[in-house]
Amino acid sequence: MQQQQAGDEAEVFRQAVLRQVEALTADNQRLLQSVVRSERRFRTLAKSVWHVQEEERRRLARELHDGIGQTLTALANQLQRILDDARGAGNLGLEHRLADALELTRGSLHDTRELSRLLRPTLLDDLGLDAALNWLARTLGERTGLTIELRSGLDEQRLHPDVETLVFRITQEALTNVIRHAKARSAQIELERRGDVLILRVEDDGCGCDTQALADAERAGACGGLRGMRDRAELFGGRIDFRSRPGQGSVVQLTLTLDPSERNDDHGR
Ligand SMILES: Nc1ncnc2c1ncn2[C@@H]1O[C@H](COP(=O)(O)OP(=O)(O)OP(=O)(O)O)[C@@H](O)[C@H]1O
Ligand SMILES: [Mg+2]
Repeated sequence: MQQQQAGDEAEVFRQAVLRQVEALTADNQRLLQSVVRSERRFRTLAKSVWHVQEEERRRLARELHDGIGQTLTALANQLQRILDDARGAGNLGLEHRLADALELTRGSLHDTRELSRLLRPTLLDDLGLDAALNWLARTLGERTGLTIELRSGLDEQRLHPDVETLVFRITQEALTNVIRHAKARSAQIELERRGDVLILRVEDDGCGCDTQALADAERAGACGGLRGMRDRAELFGGRIDFRSRPGQGSVVQLTLTLDPSERNDDHGR
């Protein structure tokens, strides 16, 4: 009799525990769903901020090109005409001063156009990644003396505009780091697509660095450039790996699974 009663109590207890476990599981499920929803909302929000930033860069780039750029073009033309007149008048001193002013104006025009393109290269929107990366490699190479080679397996294939912008910005940031920190002779940009996975590698033959110290610095909130690259990649479900050893160069790698619904189409271009 007592044994029967103990058995019943154990069963009641077991049922109560089971109910509690079920309730906890349901709670956890709800919490998980809410975290997933929040994460999705956060990504959407962060992507919107990113779109606004890119749009602002586009506007500034246009303003520089069409505003200051056009004024400097007009000024250069004007100076050229005055210089031609001065040559006719045989005033050598004035001729030299005008030639200097013309050279300065042309230099400023060149810098303004380059700055405008670095802010947002129209090539990226018009012709896509291969053309824009080629231009970036050439421009940074000419400016710094670094030999920058591009190897792309994309064959000028177009990707979703957001992905093209992401890859361009990460390459730009990685090359800026090479120029600022690596003391490298050459750098290589490699772009490869394996099915739906896109891989970008920016590699240099420079001085490298201690990645352990870097990881500590990153945890302490430093390394804004690397952090920014990681954050942007994560917005698209991608990943950044930074590998480096003192004296043995560095590699920044972006691995990104392309969203099949966002492949290749025209996307309002
Ligand atoms: N290609 C590289 N070669 C050598 N060291 C590098 C390279 N890339 C990054 N580093 C090291 O990693 C550190 C962090 O880079 P990160 O881009 O995060 O910051 P930063 O370039 O110093 O500043 P910023 O926030 O302006 O980008 C650099 O200070 C440098 O020491
Ligand atoms: Mg940096």
